Amino acid sequence: MFNVKASLALLVIAFDLFAATLASPVEWSERRDSDDTCKKTKVAVLGAGCAGIFAAQALHNASINDFVIIEYNGEIGGRVKHTTFGQQPNGDGPYTVELGANWVQGLVSPDGPENPIWTLAKKWKLENKYSNYDNLSTFDETGQSDYSHLIDDFLDSYTKFEQDAGLILTQNLQDRSARTGFRLADWKPTHDSPKMQAVEWFEMDFEYAQTPEQTSHTWAVINYNSTFYQYSERNNFVFDQRGFSAFIIGEASTFLEDNDPRLMLNTIVTDIEYSDSGVTVHNKDGSCVEADYMICTFSIGVLQRDRINFQPKLPEWKQTGIDAMTMATYTKIFLQFPPDQVFWDTNTQFFLYADPYERGYYPIWQSLDTPGFQPGSGILFVTVTQDQSFQVESQTEEMTKNQVMEVLRTMYGAENVPEPTAFMYPRWSKEPWAYGSYSNWPPGYTLEMHQNLRASLGNGRLWFAGEATSTEYFGFLHGAYAEGQSAGIAIAECINGNATACNSSPSYKMLHGTTRFGEYDVDNGWTNATFETFGW
Ligand SMILES: Cc1cc2nc3c(=O)[nH]c(=O)nc-3n(C[C@H](O)[C@H](O)[C@H](O)COP(=O)(O)OP(=O)(O)OC[C@H]3O[C@@H](n4cnc5c(N)ncnc54)[C@H](O)[C@@H]3O)c2cc1C
Ligand SMILES: *[C@@H]1O[C@H](CO)[C@@H](O)[C@H](O)[C@H]1NC(C)=O
Ligand SMILES: *[C@@H]1O[C@H](CO)[C@@H](O)[C@H](O)[C@H]1NC(C)=O
Ligand SMILES: *[C@@H]1O[C@H](CO)[C@@H](O)[C@H](O)[C@H]1NC(C)=O
Ligand SMILES: *[C@@H]1O[C@H](CO)[C@@H](O)[C@H](O)[C@H]1NC(C)=O
Ligand SMILES: *[C@@H]1O[C@H](CO)[C@@H](O)[C@H](O)[C@H]1NC(C)=O
Repeated sequence: MFNVKASLALLVIAFDLFAATLASPVEWSERRDSDDTCKKTKVAVLGAGCAGIFAAQALHNASINDFVIIEYNGEIGGRVKHTTFGQQPNGDGPYTVELGANWVQGLVSPDGPENPIWTLAKKWKLENKYSNYDNLSTFDETGQSDYSHLIDDFLDSYTKFEQDAGLILTQNLQDRSARTGFRLADWKPTHDSPKMQAVEWFEMDFEYAQTPEQTSHTWAVINYNSTFYQYSERNNFVFDQRGFSAFIIGEASTFLEDNDPRLMLNTIVTDIEYSDSGVTVHNKDGSCVEADYMICTFSIGVLQRDRINFQPKLPEWKQTGIDAMTMATYTKIFLQFPPDQVFWDTNTQFFLYADPYERGYYPIWQSLDTPGFQPGSGILFVTVTQDQSFQVESQTEEMTKNQVMEVLRTMYGAENVPEPTAFMYPRWSKEPWAYGSYSNWPPGYTLEMHQNLRASLGNGRLWFAGEATSTEYFGFLHGAYAEGQSAGIAIAECINGNATACNSSPSYKMLHGTTRFGEYDVDNGWTNATFETFGW
């Protein structure tokens, strides 16, 4: 027989089960009443990288100052990250080198549009210099060897390649891989043509950090056109000894105080609870923040690895948007040589190496010991991407150094190349706050799927912003900037009573295979840069 107490207990259990099946707002308000320990704020900004800091600045600009920024690392900047390396010859201590973002890509066009990163690089007087990609010498396993005519061949095919992408965009055609696009444009590097492969790596992988097989034809061109045909075809290399992040830290200092309690550094987010009435975030150290709105700027590397426990679980359409985009990896390997034993032509910026056996094997070398950069530094660095990045990340520094030195000795002759005095590289795909370098758009990933990556949840309570959510500028710093800014502006509008702004980042519950021309609109993150450039 039941006694009263036991049946009451059963009733309570039954009620709990019932409550758990109710819509999330009810669950939310119960939690909200009970959890007095959480810090309360209007807007929680997750991440203090480029997107997070400019989202917060946009809020500040709209007089929303009740926000909190939560950051894993002990400093502002995210993937704009530097470290110290080697020694300066004058005994002034080590150099500062950039492990992450290094270039301002696309500066300013004569008739107006200016890359916001360029505006800020000038404002904060970042030391930088035009990277001349034509100032390049080519090498193979026999040493220096001129195959620059293959670059011209590539560029001839590229003209058709970019026009074809324009047709796909305007005529609602199906996307395909850049590999397919290149074949159709008569660029056909075979596996027994290491020089063509080196040239292709330089023109494609060096930018997108993945192979043409892994890259969308249409979106590689959209990304390129929006950046380089809108702003300019210039890439300026930043080597400021304060670090490239000085512009982000500088802008943060215009709206944050010293030791501002709104900036929570060294705080690792583990859980995000969201509903139609607000958002709560829980951190590894047991702290929590309760907010009306939230902007999550974590990389898709972090989101793909299930590092964050979302409650409720992310809907399938959102998870697809996240999982179908790609996080690519890009690795710079730094070497310093005794300045009096420098063996390369210090007047030249780039050296391209065609390995006879493997595409992408230590292919592009850059000199910092060059006029206008850091003359006398003895610093050279080589860049690898994706599979080659994973290889150097999984092997010891010593193994990588041996491979790198073997290539240099092949290029310049063993007798000319001394041991480096310093050697270092990062392991981006293993960093638990990034899990990779930057996003790349894979073949067949549609605008609608990408919008699902951008789209907000909880009826406009939980927003997503970052380089990967940028429709036109994914991968770039100016993409992270634009997305942080637009999420900040939309949330401020929403808080100030503009209901349209609250739901201005919609999702597609049903995906279509191709993208209609009319879908390239502001709601889907399209700022119209390309259309204006081409008068479409
Ligand atoms: C090697 C490399 C080279 C690059 N080169 C260029 C270049 O030359 N030019 C260019 O324009 N762009 C370049 N990029 C891309 C550029 O760095 C990024 O687009 C940009 O920095 C991304 O900014 P974000 O705010 O979107 O993301 P992030 O900078 O990743 O900011 C997200 C923040 O969230 C934090 N975070 C993550 N997980 C958690 C957690 N669980 N709890 C709390 N905080 C968390 C992170 O620490 C980070 O600070 C490069 C990137 C890399 C890695
Ligand atoms: C905030 O306002 C300042 C001053 O007008 C402006 O320079 C800056 O670009 C704005 N920031 C954002 C992110 O919009
Ligand atoms: C690179 O530019 C410098 C300076 O103009 C020049 O001396 C050098 O020969 C160039 N190198 C190549 C390979 O074009
Ligand atoms: C990119 O620019 C080229 C050259 O102006 C143009 O022909 C092409 O249509 C553009 N493609 C896209 C997708 O913007
Ligand atoms: C409200 O927000 C929408 C979307 O962000 C914007 O287009 C519109 O101009 C805003 N309306 C007003 C009155 O500011
Ligand atoms: C975007 O470009 C198209 C085509 O040029 C034009 O019709 C449309 O009005 C533009 N939209 C915005 C929001 O500027």
